[in-house]
Amino acid sequence: MSTLPSEIFLHDLRPSAADMRAAVLAGLTRRPKRLPSKYFYDTRGSQLFEQICALPEYYLTRAELELMRMHAAAIGTALGERALVIEYGSGSATKTRLLLEHLADAVAYVPVEISRSALTASVARLRTTFPHLEMLPVCADFTQPLTLPEPARAPRRTVIYFPGSTLGNFDTEAAVQLLAQMRQTMGAHGAALIGVDRVKSSEQIEAAYNDAAGVTAEFTLNLLQRINRELQADFDLRAFRHRARYHPQRERIETDIISRTDQEVRVAGRHVHFAAGEAMRVEISCKYSPESFARLAARAGLRVTQAWSDSEALFSVHCLRPVGRAT
Ligand code: AVI
Repeated sequence: MSTLPSEIFLHDLRPSAADMRAAVLAGLTRRPKRLPSKYFYDTRGSQLFEQICALPEYYLTRAELELMRMHAAAIGTALGERALVIEYGSGSATKTRLLLEHLADAVAYVPVEISRSALTASVARLRTTFPHLEMLPVCADFTQPLTLPEPARAPRRTVIYFPGSTLGNFDTEAAVQLLAQMRQTMGAHGAALIGVDRVKSSEQIEAAYNDAAGVTAEFTLNLLQRINRELQADFDLRAFRHRARYHPQRERIETDIISRTDQEVRVAGRHVHFAAGEAMRVEISCKYSPESFARLAARAGLRVTQAWSDSEALFSVHCLRPVGRAT
């Protein structure tokens, strides 16, 4: 595991084990059952997600990287100089390097990531490329209200970077709430740079979430492994399977864990019954057209001022600013 360079202080606001216990038990008592996808990202889950990003079927990461290589200079110009860059759910921060390279005189970089291992590794890596950029890593759940650390130099603007189509993992109401929270954080002169996967054929989308090597299935079921370890549960992983289906009307992938048998599982001292074939929702991945994304942003008081796509129009990155402000 990487360690942070000694001059970098990590702000540790990680959700407690009690938060996870409460969220998991609440989800298991709902009908249908559900579990929050943010708990996918323990150390093993983060590693498996990195493997997913390199899979032939998972076009999202390749398309977004190509887009950033093609347009990072234009994006940097659009965002302007002396920016404070806050990245939500920074993960391995692979695209961040391309953004930071094209931002003139960036003041500081604040990655906010729930996985401590992913955060530490990415900051250690970025440090070697940007030795003079102030780095203020925060280990936290970015969906919760946060007090972020202040940079040493005063920024001219705040830019929130949210790549990877992570916004797609939130349903419409939660996405609007998160965008509204970003609007508050960016202030009147700031911007958000948001990457989303585009609506396309069901076949292409479904293949991305049902890879032939079974890495996505392992990633999904790792959630049960994590609950076993951290909440003293006894899920038998062989008794469950992964299912990811595209819902064309809702324009989203719906990922469920399906119980193969009628069974009882013990979780944090409770007994939980699963019927044979019962589906437990663990993730949604929403896809957007330029129009549906603009409508979503408008509900949060934001407007799309610019948008960029890869050469096959698989993925888009949008620049959002508060409604009523000049570009
Ligand atoms: C992090 N997030 C945008 C991924 C997605 O595509 O929804 C997570 C993922 N789940 C399965 N494969 C990838």
